[in-house]
Amino acid sequence: MEKMWAGRTAGQVDKIADEYNSSIAIDCRMYREDITGSMAHAAMLGAQKIIPQEAADHIIEGLEGILNDLESGALEIDYDCEDIHMFVEQVLTSRIGDEGKMLHTARSRNDQVALDLRMYLRRECAEITALVEELVEVLCNKAEEHKDVILPGYTHLQRAQPITFGHHLMAYASMLLRDLSRLDDAVKRMNVSPIGCCALAGTTYDTDRYFEAEQLHFDDIMLNSLDGVSDRDYCVELMNDFALIMTHLSRFSEELILWSSWEFKFIELSDSYTTGSSIMPQKKNPDMAELVRGKTGRVFGNLMGMLTTLKGIPLAYNKDMQEDKNFIFDSLDTVKISLQVFIPMIDTMTVRSDNMLRAAQEGFINATDLADYLVRKGLPFRSAYKISGQIVATCIDEGMVLETMPLDVYQGFSDLFEEDLYDSISLKNCVERRISVGGTSVASVENQIEYTRDVLAARQQDKEQD
Ligand code: ARG
Repeated sequence: MEKMWAGRTAGQVDKIADEYNSSIAIDCRMYREDITGSMAHAAMLGAQKIIPQEAADHIIEGLEGILNDLESGALEIDYDCEDIHMFVEQVLTSRIGDEGKMLHTARSRNDQVALDLRMYLRRECAEITALVEELVEVLCNKAEEHKDVILPGYTHLQRAQPITFGHHLMAYASMLLRDLSRLDDAVKRMNVSPIGCCALAGTTYDTDRYFEAEQLHFDDIMLNSLDGVSDRDYCVELMNDFALIMTHLSRFSEELILWSSWEFKFIELSDSYTTGSSIMPQKKNPDMAELVRGKTGRVFGNLMGMLTTLKGIPLAYNKDMQEDKNFIFDSLDTVKISLQVFIPMIDTMTVRSDNMLRAAQEGFINATDLADYLVRKGLPFRSAYKISGQIVATCIDEGMVLETMPLDVYQGFSDLFEEDLYDSISLKNCVERRISVGGTSVASVENQIEYTRDVLAARQQDKEQD
């Protein structure tokens, strides 16, 4: 088949080179954006009298037909075409004749692909955002359900202080709220129109770039045409945001994997999100959580790939840039399906609060509270810390825990100890006393949930107003 760009060359490319050059298999998913972008372009060309209004109308009608036929399946993508832009233009011309050849006036595939990609990512980001919001909502609900379940909080994976499970879950909600605001920022910067930058230098035609930008719901236009066709910062920003979302899901997955082990038994994942072993009959493996953790590496790799592709290319468009879509689409798809699996996996997990509490009772995680008790009685913290450490050591020697150590032994360490010390170091009180803002007490977790739900509601309201 002769290439649409045949002219300077015969348009005959070696078969393997042709395959190497082709991007339709990956960019065909932007067909909607390509077509709506072209419709706005044709409307602008008509309104500016760059092409006859009648031709513009026919082009728009033709493009509408192509879109409908692609959606209904009546028209199939021809993978022999070089890319989606060539495919659409070729079908258009075959359907409406020479008027179709007017569409590419005052435009290049360089600004066209930049436009398509921004529009496509804008739409996809709305879906990712909605999924992250859904996960935050599920976390709020789970946190509320388990706001007074006590488990050990860890540092260095050593039992540290008692916390509530609601508090632990809301930590992830906090991370995800940041992810949402990062996505908002990136989308804001991305939502600037490159169409009209043409090949690299702008155009001699009297175009109206603002008209096109407005039709396609952009907030502004790219001000420098060289930058307009060669900027892929928004891909890097989004991929960074995706990498962070995956980092958060991956850390969470690591905990789910640990917690569902026989050693912890803090949770049980639903059968729907686990698999069995082909040889060991007793196994219930947290494959989905492991895959989230594993796929995170892929999303990091895509980010590095994108940056590496960009770092050496001179202005303006270079074919290297065609690789951008491989990276960003893979990251996008990976984040999306990971969230789609993760949300119901969290929603359906069973929390073994008895095991959580048991683990909290076994590790001197109230030792800080013992020191705080002495501080309340007037001792400087450092001295209280030392005494408490000595008491823990004695307990370990005697095979006891702080709760079972007799009062007279305590009083051997300090005469500040009285009967009320036992109340102070009860796990329930340890948690309940941590009422500092952002702390682990039920009241604090309730505040965190309320704040987070307010953020979600405000976001929902913004969407409805848009
Ligand atoms: N398929 C190309 C891409 O994705 C479209 C732009 C091609 N431009 C060009 N001058 N060859 O980057």
